[in-house]
Amino acid sequence: MAEEKKQKFSLFEDKIAIKIKSSLESANFDFKTYRNNSMGLSGKAPWLVTVRAWYCDNLIRTFLAQNPNGLIVEFGGGMDARYFRVTEMGQKFDNSRWLMLDLDGIVDLRKSVYDEVLKNESGNFGNLEVKKCSVADVPKWSKIIDEILKTEKRPILFTDMACLTYIEPDSVNTIFSKVSTYPGAWILFNTLHKSFLETAGGNNDEHAAKSNWKWLVDEKYGENPLKYLDDKIKFRNEFCVLEKCYELRKLRSESVGEFEEWKSAASEVYPEIVKHGQYFDPSVADLGYNLHWVIFE
Ligand SMILES: C[S@@+](CC[C@H](N)C(=O)[O-])C[C@H]1O[C@@H](n2cnc3c(N)ncnc32)[C@H](O)[C@@H]1O
Repeated sequence: MAEEKKQKFSLFEDKIAIKIKSSLESANFDFKTYRNNSMGLSGKAPWLVTVRAWYCDNLIRTFLAQNPNGLIVEFGGGMDARYFRVTEMGQKFDNSRWLMLDLDGIVDLRKSVYDEVLKNESGNFGNLEVKKCSVADVPKWSKIIDEILKTEKRPILFTDMACLTYIEPDSVNTIFSKVSTYPGAWILFNTLHKSFLETAGGNNDEHAAKSNWKWLVDEKYGENPLKYLDDKIKFRNEFCVLEKCYELRKLRSESVGEFEEWKSAASEVYPEIVKHGQYFDPSVADLGYNLHWVIFE
């Protein structure tokens, strides 16, 4: 995220990520080991996390332009600085409210890192709350939301950027069912196809993260992974994350050879990628890493 601003065809600038990176550098953080350990899905498609964030940020901007008092609920926000990117360090969307939920240890880690990087910032970030709460604990987070809605009617946009993948499928169904009860709620969520259990990490990598994946989908590109809520869905759209990664890789490569080398490496994880040339059609070769935008009735 910190590097994105320097790339050709840059998608955004993440000021907080840049600060976090420089403070980790001063603490001699081992970036090489970190990168090796995170190789897998994103290792072979290096801008997967930035593309996912870019799409999500833009959808939130669209939502808040239409609903200035909207409530953004982030499932498993981790260390991500979405609030600071979208609100431009607290200067925009000041009528919105943000609620980020994550596990206790991550919220503590986030607090210690953010306290440090924000200490010289003068912005007012009072409309952001970070709470310790498992997304699987539906009664707990729905109570927090209901408390907010009791005093102020706010349309809600939920985000799941790779958190629900780590939750048991039965719980995921309960979570989506609850989300669908908030009138007109939007949700942007991330799906991984079951086939990644075979290919994640490529030829020479065990890819530790996959042992923690619990919710993976069978649906092909265009199919609805929330069929059980079909009658409550007003609108649904799908975005192929790898399509944008492919585009960026093509535009950022210095030569045809560099691009082809990447494509060959990426095909270890995304075998269907070889079917794409200049024109990329996600429905022809489904690469299995998609974002879904759903609006409920
Ligand atoms: C792959 S990270 C993604 C973080 C962030 N959304 C992003 O895009 O950078 C998954 C996040 O989900 C969180 N998570 C995993 N299980 C969770 C749970 N039961 N409740 C809340 N958060 C959870 C993790 O702590 C982590 O921050």
